[in-house]
Amino acid sequence: MKALGIVGSPRKGGNTEILTAHCLKAIAEEGLDTELVRLAGLNIAGCNNCNYCFEHDGCSIEDDLQPIWDKMVVADAIIVASPVYFGSATSLVKALLERAGFMSFRGKPFRGKVGGPLVVARRAGKNFTFVELLHWFHIMGIINPGSTYWNVAIGREKGEVEKDEEGLRTAWNFGKNVADLLKRLNR
Ligand SMILES: Cc1cc2nc3c(=O)[nH]c(=O)nc-3n(C[C@H](O)[C@H](O)[C@H](O)COP(=O)(O)O)c2cc1C
Repeated sequence: MKALGIVGSPRKGGNTEILTAHCLKAIAEEGLDTELVRLAGLNIAGCNNCNYCFEHDGCSIEDDLQPIWDKMVVADAIIVASPVYFGSATSLVKALLERAGFMSFRGKPFRGKVGGPLVVARRAGKNFTFVELLHWFHIMGIINPGSTYWNVAIGREKGEVEKDEEGLRTAWNFGKNVADLLKRLNR
C-alpha cells in the first residue's frame, strides 16, 4: 500500500514540504510505501471546462498534470498539502484539484481511497483552507480519518514550521490514522 503526499507550494524545501515529509514518515513507520511529489516548478493550468474528460481518458490540456494524475490514481492514500496564499490554497493546488476532480468523475478512481489535506500559514486562513481542501476530498469519496486537531501548522520562513510542535504532532497523528485506516480497510 502506498501513500502519496502532494506538496502544493511553489517554494521547494519550505514549510509545506517539511510538514508533508513528517506526515509521510509517520505512515512509513507503519510499513507502508510513501512518495512525496512537489508541484513546485510544474506547469499545471486550471480546468478550461472543455469537458473532454467526460468522454475520454485524460485531459485535453497538455502540461505537467499527467504524471501527477497517474500517481494519484494508483496511490491508496492521497495527501494534498498547501500553504495559505491570501486566505486560500495556492493556485497550483487549485489547478490540480480542478483538473483531477473533473477527470475523476468518469471512472471515479479516487472513491474509497484514504486521505486529506495539510495546511501551513504564517498566521491566518488555515482553517478556511483546510475546509476548502476537504470539500474536494469529500466529493471524490476519499475517506478522511481525522487527527488530534485540524491539520494546520504555523510557519513563515523556510523551516519555521519545525518550531510548531503541535502542528507537527497533528500531521504525525494524521499520518498514523491514515496508515491505521488503510490497514483496516485492507484486512
Ligand atoms: C503570495 C503569498 C500569500 C500569502 N498569504 C498568506 C495568508 O493569507 N495567510 C497567512 O497566514 N500566510 C500567508 N502567506 C505566508 C505563507 O503561507 C507561509 O510563508 C508558508 O509557510 C509558506 O509555505 P512554504 O514554506 O511551504 O512555501 C502567504 C505567502 C505568499 C507568498
